[in-house]
Amino acid sequence: MTTKYQAIKGVKDILPGEIEKWQFMEKTAREVFELYGFSEIRIPIFEMTAVFTRSIGETTDIVEKEMYTFPDRSGDSLTLRPEGTASVVRAYVEHNLYNPPSVVKLYYMGPMFRCERPQAGRYRQFYQIGVEVFGTENPEIDAEVIGMLLKYFEKLGLKELELQINSLGCDECRPKFREALLEFLKNKINLLCEDCQKRFERNPLRIFDCKSVSCHDATKEAPTIEGYRCDNCKSHFNSTINFLDKLNIPYVKNPKLVRGLDYYTKTAFEIISKGLGSQNAIAGGGRYDKLVEEFGGPPTPAFGFAIGMDRTAQLIQPLAFSLQPSVFIVALGERANQKVFELINNLRQNEIRVERDYEGSSLKSQLRKANKFGVRYTIIIGDNELDKDKVILRDMSGSRQEEIDIETIVEIMTKKLRER
Ligand code: HAM
Repeated sequence: MTTKYQAIKGVKDILPGEIEKWQFMEKTAREVFELYGFSEIRIPIFEMTAVFTRSIGETTDIVEKEMYTFPDRSGDSLTLRPEGTASVVRAYVEHNLYNPPSVVKLYYMGPMFRCERPQAGRYRQFYQIGVEVFGTENPEIDAEVIGMLLKYFEKLGLKELELQINSLGCDECRPKFREALLEFLKNKINLLCEDCQKRFERNPLRIFDCKSVSCHDATKEAPTIEGYRCDNCKSHFNSTINFLDKLNIPYVKNPKLVRGLDYYTKTAFEIISKGLGSQNAIAGGGRYDKLVEEFGGPPTPAFGFAIGMDRTAQLIQPLAFSLQPSVFIVALGERANQKVFELINNLRQNEIRVERDYEGSSLKSQLRKANKFGVRYTIIIGDNELDKDKVILRDMSGSRQEEIDIETIVEIMTKKLRER
């Protein structure tokens, strides 16, 4: 008995008809990011596990329950990348990209892996396009890079997006806020969900991100980082906001915005789409000024974001990206077939997308196929036409047809398609 295999739960194929959107997202990212001075970096799909545990944080959901971690044949613990930032920082330090000191701007794209509970907009293999900027603390970069991201989404035709922004503070002010939060929550532990009861001691800020109603209620009146930011963080946040204003970028300050990764300092943000369900963050990022140092590099402030391509693809209008052919050629009989073989080649040499029937079907059935492809023009060649060195050109929109010299058809098609 043969077995029919299926893709693993939470993992999907991206088929023709859908892939055009993905190619569009990738192409547009290259165009926009390169305009802003970013270069591509290709990072490996898997790393030593410590690269992720050290950076993302031991007590985050990603590290605690979502990583695909396995021993390789020599016993080393390896992990399929759950995100890109850790690998880019590892590469930045490994290849001394900080020498000579200057701002380094990198972008990457590809699959990431998190063993989350699959649902609409949440997959176990998903795709990100990300950018990372190293070497400046200047809030202008925070605003500029967020501006670049929104320009990118605009080019994709996305609407109804909301930028939510926060500053998570730094080593100086965040511990004070953490203490205040613990103090506030200590009498409310019983109200928290099981997961958040564990988070209480280990990673209390994450409680803000919990979707459970009881945790939401318990933190309603909780202190936020807003009241605890040190002068340096306050001024950095205000400047970031001012630069966003200069770029006419609307935002919502969300002092309860925390991210699922622990490396952030100061700016943290998300782009929310109103057109999606509960998994509505299509991009997220922020500043991580300590990570390069923690990876053994020199003190290097950094800022970046990642776009969730699966969710973004859902928001792109489908029609404009079809790779449908412009012309279908109907060949009737063996002689016509021989001629069509050459003609198709000629049309393609002239960059015309053309399809045909390979089965020697009847005229009716070939015209049905032409309709199915949605072509604008069909060229019909049979013995009659060949004897006169002609072809029939049919405009599928009005079903008008005319006879044309076979010698001129490539030139005429090129012209007609250019006129459209
Ligand atoms: P993140 O918020 O974990 O950030 O992921 C960024 C985006 O990836 C999310 O907003 C979402 O659109 C998408 N995403 C995450 N998990 C899934 C999933 N399971 N299924 C589908 N889409 C998903 C990061 O990964 C950081 N590395 C961003 C960053 C770069 N921060 C600084 N530099």
